[in-house]
Amino acid sequence: MPENNKKLLKGRLNQPISELAEAFNASVSFDQRLALYDIQGSQAHLQMLMEQNIISQEEHAIIKQGLENIQKEIENGNFEWQQHLEDVHMNIEAKLIENIGEVGGKLHTARSRNDQVATDLRLYVREHTTYLLQHIRQCQHNLLDLAEQYHSTIMPGFTHLQIAQPVTFGHHLLAWFHMLQRDYERLSDNQKRTNKSPLGSAALAGSTYNINPQRTAELLGFDGICGNSLDAVSDRDFAIELLNNLSLMMNHLSRICEELILWNSDAFSLVDLPDEFCTGSSIMPQKKNPDIFELIRGKSARVFAASNSLIMLMKSQPLAYNKDNQEDKEPIFDSLDTCLDSLRLFAQILPNLKPKKENMQTMAAKGYSTATDVADYIVKKGIPFRKAYEIVGEIVRLAIEKEKQLHQLTLPQLQSIHSLIEEDIYQHITLEGCVNARKHLGGTAPEQVKKSVQKLRQTIST
Ligand code: ARG
Repeated sequence: MPENNKKLLKGRLNQPISELAEAFNASVSFDQRLALYDIQGSQAHLQMLMEQNIISQEEHAIIKQGLENIQKEIENGNFEWQQHLEDVHMNIEAKLIENIGEVGGKLHTARSRNDQVATDLRLYVREHTTYLLQHIRQCQHNLLDLAEQYHSTIMPGFTHLQIAQPVTFGHHLLAWFHMLQRDYERLSDNQKRTNKSPLGSAALAGSTYNINPQRTAELLGFDGICGNSLDAVSDRDFAIELLNNLSLMMNHLSRICEELILWNSDAFSLVDLPDEFCTGSSIMPQKKNPDIFELIRGKSARVFAASNSLIMLMKSQPLAYNKDNQEDKEPIFDSLDTCLDSLRLFAQILPNLKPKKENMQTMAAKGYSTATDVADYIVKKGIPFRKAYEIVGEIVRLAIEKEKQLHQLTLPQLQSIHSLIEEDIYQHITLEGCVNARKHLGGTAPEQVKKSVQKLRQTIST
C-alpha cells in the first residue's frame, strides 16, 4: 500500500485495519458508480472554496486540472480502483494527491465524506429520475399511438377474470397510460425533494470556514440547500420515496405484463406478442415463451425488496450519519437499473403488439356480456333497475337454455319475458352498440377514446 494512501485515514489509529474488516468495510466495488458525480460535486466545492478565499486561485487551478485528469482516466476505464482505499471518495482523493501533490489535500477543506456521499447520491438519483421520466413518457407516447390505432377494436372486458362487458382495446391501453401517468407525477414530485444540496453540512454540524452552501447548490443545479446539517447528512428519505414510487411503477408493469401473458396464451389468444421479446423452449420446438414479460413481472420483486431494505436500513438510526447508510447504494442502483431496463423494453414492445381482432370480437360476444345493456334498455322504459335486473336474469337463463347469445334471441322470445321489449333492443345489445353508448369522459366508446388520446397527447407534451 503506498505510504500516503495509508496515511489518509490513519488519524488516531495505531494498528492497521484487519484484512477481513477492510474487505467488509469497503464499498468501492459498487460506489465507483458515483465517480463522475463525486467529481462534479468536488468541482463545485472547489469553486466555492476559491470564491470565498479559502483557497487561492493557483491552488484552485491545479486541483481543478487534477480532477479533470482523473475524470478522463475514469471515463477511459484506466482508473485503478483499490479496495484498501475503501470507497469512491477516498480513491479519487488519494489519486489526486498522488498526481498533484500535497495541494490536493486542500480539496477536502470544509467538507466530510458524509456531506460528500449525500451529495453524490442526490446527484445520481436526480439524473436517473430524469431518465425514468423520459422512458415513462416514451411508453406513454407509444400507448397513445396504439390507442388511437385501435380506438374502435372491440375486446372483452373482465372482472374476476370472467368476461364482463365489451370494451375497446384503445380504452384498455389508455388505462395503462393513466397508471403510468400517476407514476410519472409521483416521480417528478419526488425529484423536487431529491434536488436539495447537503454540501456544507460537513460531518454533521456544518463548517467553521466562511463557506457559501447556497453557491455550491447553485453550481450543482440544486434547487436550494437541505436546511439542516444533521438531517442533510443522515436522512435518505428521498431515496426511500423513490423506491416506493418505483415499487408502484413495477407493480403497474407487472400487471400489464401479466395481462399480456394471459392474452398471448392459447386459452385467450387475444394478442400476438412480438417474437423479438419471446424465447423458444430448449425441449419443445413448438413453444414461444413470453420470457421478457414474465421477467418484468418477476423483477418487480427485486424493487419491492429494495424498497423494504432501504426503509429497514433507516429505521431507528440515530442522527446523524451512520455507516449503515453505506448499504443504501446497492438497492438504489439495482432498482434503477431494473426499472430503466423494464421501461426501455416495454416502450419497444408496444409498437410491435398485434391484437387478434377477430378473436377479441368473438370472445367479447361470449358470456352474455351485453346483459347490463339489456337491463339499462328496460330501465329506460320506466322499470326500476332491480326489477330490470331480474328480467335480464330470466333472459340469460332462456339464452343458456336455447344455447344462443343474447342478440340471437328472437323478439317473440324476448317479449315472452317482458312485453315492453321492442325491436329497437337489438341496437342496444350489439357489441358496437354497447361500447358506443359509453361515450362520457372516461368511458370506453371509440369516439371518447379518440378524444382522450388528443387531450392526453397535449397533457404529456406540455
Ligand atoms: N462510503 C461511505 C458511505 O457510503 C461514505 C461516508 C463515510 N463516512 C464516514 N464517516 N465513515 O456512506
